[in-house]
Formats: sequence, structure tokens, C-alpha cells
Amino acid sequence: MSYIEFDAKYRTFTIMDQQHRQFIDILNRFFDDWIKDRKLDPHPYLMEVADYGQYHFDSEEKYMEENKITHLEEHKKVHKELMVSLANLIRRIESGEEITMETFQFLQGWLMNHVVGMDKRDYGL
Ligand SMILES: [Fe+2]
Ligand SMILES: [Fe+2]
Repeated sequence: MSYIEFDAKYRTFTIMDQQHRQFIDILNRFFDDWIKDRKLDPHPYLMEVADYGQYHFDSEEKYMEENKITHLEEHKKVHKELMVSLANLIRRIESGEEITMETFQFLQGWLMNHVVGMDKRDYGL
């Protein structure tokens, strides 16, 4: 079983679900590799998380603009804040902070709490 399963509470609609699932896949791969080797170099995984996170936020904002979804400016601001909090975590890890279960809990909540709270609200789900 994977570390994170795509739960029904995460469901939005097809295109965004695919991207949210893709993010979960990246975290699960990071987690599985870390379980096998606690001394792995986290850098490529963290870069993948950050790159995919940014790609997802950009594509979600584009979708929201095209579909005239409400709260766009507030949503964009929150995406920016999320990228800052992720950058802070990455900086701490690259300065030597150890990866623990809490790191994975943070990364899971980082995107998925936002999906359950704000994405669903702004898509009217
Ligand atoms: Fe999203
Ligand atoms: Fe979002």
C-alpha cells in the first residue's frame, strides 16, 4: 500500500484530480525510496515536488481564469504562500535538517489540505 492513497475527499474533477494524483505519486515515490534508504539525497525529490507544485498552481490558475472562477486573487495569493512555505522547508533540509515522518506529513498536508479546503470551495464542490 502507498503512503498516501487518493481518497474520495480529495476528488474535484478530472483534469485537476489527475494533477493532484500525480503530486501524490511523487510523494509516494519519495517516501518509498526514503524507507529503503534513510540516507538518500533528498535534493532531486524536493526539486520535483517544488517544480510539480508550481506547474500545478500555474495550470490551476489558468483554468480558473479561463472559467471565471471566483476568489481567483485570493487563491493565487495562497498558492504563492504555499510555495514560500515549501521553499522554507527545502532550505532547512538542504541546510541539514533531517527528513522524518513529519516531513512527509507536512508535504502531504501542504497540497492536500489546500485541495480539500480551498480548491473544492472555489470550484463550488
Ligand atoms: Fe489544486
Ligand atoms: Fe489551488
